[in-house]
Amino acid sequence: EKGGYEHFMLKEIFEQPKSIHDTMRGRLLVDEGVIKMAGIWDHVERFKNANRIIIIACGTSWHAGLIGEYLIEEYARIPVEVEYASEFRYRNPIITDKDVVIAISQSGETADTMAALKLAKEKGAFIYGICNVVDSSIARITDAGSYTHAGPEIGVASTKAFTAQLTILTLIAFKLGKHNGNLGNADFMSLIAELDAIPKKIEEVLNTTHELVQNIAKDFVNATNFLYLGRGYNYPAALEGALKLKEISYIHAEGYPAAEMKHGPIALIDENMPIVIIAPKKGHYDKIVSNVQEIKARKGKVIAVVNKGDQQVSAMADYVIEIPETSECFSPIVASVPLQLLAYYIAVYRGANVDQPRNLAKSVTVE
Ligand code: F6R
Repeated sequence: EKGGYEHFMLKEIFEQPKSIHDTMRGRLLVDEGVIKMAGIWDHVERFKNANRIIIIACGTSWHAGLIGEYLIEEYARIPVEVEYASEFRYRNPIITDKDVVIAISQSGETADTMAALKLAKEKGAFIYGICNVVDSSIARITDAGSYTHAGPEIGVASTKAFTAQLTILTLIAFKLGKHNGNLGNADFMSLIAELDAIPKKIEEVLNTTHELVQNIAKDFVNATNFLYLGRGYNYPAALEGALKLKEISYIHAEGYPAAEMKHGPIALIDENMPIVIIAPKKGHYDKIVSNVQEIKARKGKVIAVVNKGDQQVSAMADYVIEIPETSECFSPIVASVPLQLLAYYIAVYRGANVDQPRNLAKSVTVE
């Protein structure tokens, strides 16, 4: 059932070209220049007239929500807030019938997310679900939604569900932006063509980085800490990279927006600190270059995820992982893949049970 892979997690990482493709199938019609999503279309005025969109989730799904905020604000220009379900539900949040709530949950059973939705529903908000498990509790309580068609995710650490969530959020942002006129037709057409090519790019990343990342992992088996840095769309990708490492390898890791480094974490940097830095060409590249200079001046060990042919960051980094270039909004999908592999191999070399990490459950049905 693991299809020849040693763990479900590795199988699921490798399934991503297919799971992303399946998530877009029937929705992204590139030749017709259309994104078809009945759940959005049937309630499009509700979205269009929303005071704001509130995204509610936990864990990895919350990281997807942060990227959703960047996507929806950039392309649809609708204000978005992202909240941990557990914080939202207990802080007497301001919520009205003019708000749209998007819940993101792989399992559809997360207790805090469910409770937050019940609260939002009582206050009259429109509830949209992004779930992977069909007919799950959250899917049933929502007013409308889109399933991520990632297929069953067995590994406790979420991988393919995360990239499928990003795919749905991208489709939603583009569809709303096209409808409300914030995303012009030419840009819409080129973005959807690029989105359509993402599964191929993921395939390429898997082929070209798998062995390399495996080798890099060997050098960090005894690390006790890691920092993950990114900017813009890749700031949440850094948070997610750090979470993956923590969960399965039990190495302490923190994700940060790269510019926040100088407000504290830079004090941690010495020759023993590995720093994963996501530095694609599009998206604050020059700023990232100076962040890397600051790290190298303090002898930190830099593992850089860069675009093919990169020069500046690559020249300074100790380890270089190349990924294909994309528009900034797609870079977290592509950059996440080598970070999943890195966490996976470090955990495997440490002898950890990657599919069933200690203290964790696949669906968190207690608060
Ligand atoms: C991380 C992970 C958890 C879940 C979180 C929410 O790899 O799996 O952080 O993302 O428990 O779960 P769902 O998405 O099922 O609501």
